[in-house]
Amino acid sequence: MIKKKIRDAFNEQIMHETYSAYLYLSIVAYFHSLGFDGMAQWMRVQAMEEMTHAMKFFDHINERGGTVELLAIEKPLAKWKTPLDAFKAALKHEEFITGKINELAKLVQRENDYASQSLIQWFVDEQVEEEANATKNVQMLEMVGKSGNGILMVDRELGTRTFTMPLPVSGEGG
Ligand code: FEO
Repeated sequence: MIKKKIRDAFNEQIMHETYSAYLYLSIVAYFHSLGFDGMAQWMRVQAMEEMTHAMKFFDHINERGGTVELLAIEKPLAKWKTPLDAFKAALKHEEFITGKINELAKLVQRENDYASQSLIQWFVDEQVEEEANATKNVQMLEMVGKSGNGILMVDRELGTRTFTMPLPVSGEGG
């Protein structure tokens, strides 16, 4: 059975991960409004991945006999100055999420919750990749600067990203 303290913290993280999806979807809408469909595709995949992150916490709470309680989601920003600005906002948000995961890592260690430690270790590793990807996008756009051709190349490159739906948790599906 999951401890109440950990369940509450995981419920809160479901909110943060869902907000990540919401923020990134807002950036998708912004990119589409500028005609950058490739950047929008990249960020759309990112938003879907964030929902799979939220579901990892959701499933973990359920599997350990806890009850999921969904919290309110804040309204995200709808506009940025430039695509570079939007990618910088995404990077800043990932750094915030890494801080949240590190707090959870301390909590589950303090509480000797080994099952949760295994879950959180996955997120610790994932955040390294999340920050690296977000940084790469910022660097690419910084490198091309105001070059229209450069920005279109970045748009084409980011448009190749695809999403793979993870397998359902054990006990569900076929
Ligand atoms: Fe779920 Fe991008 O961190």
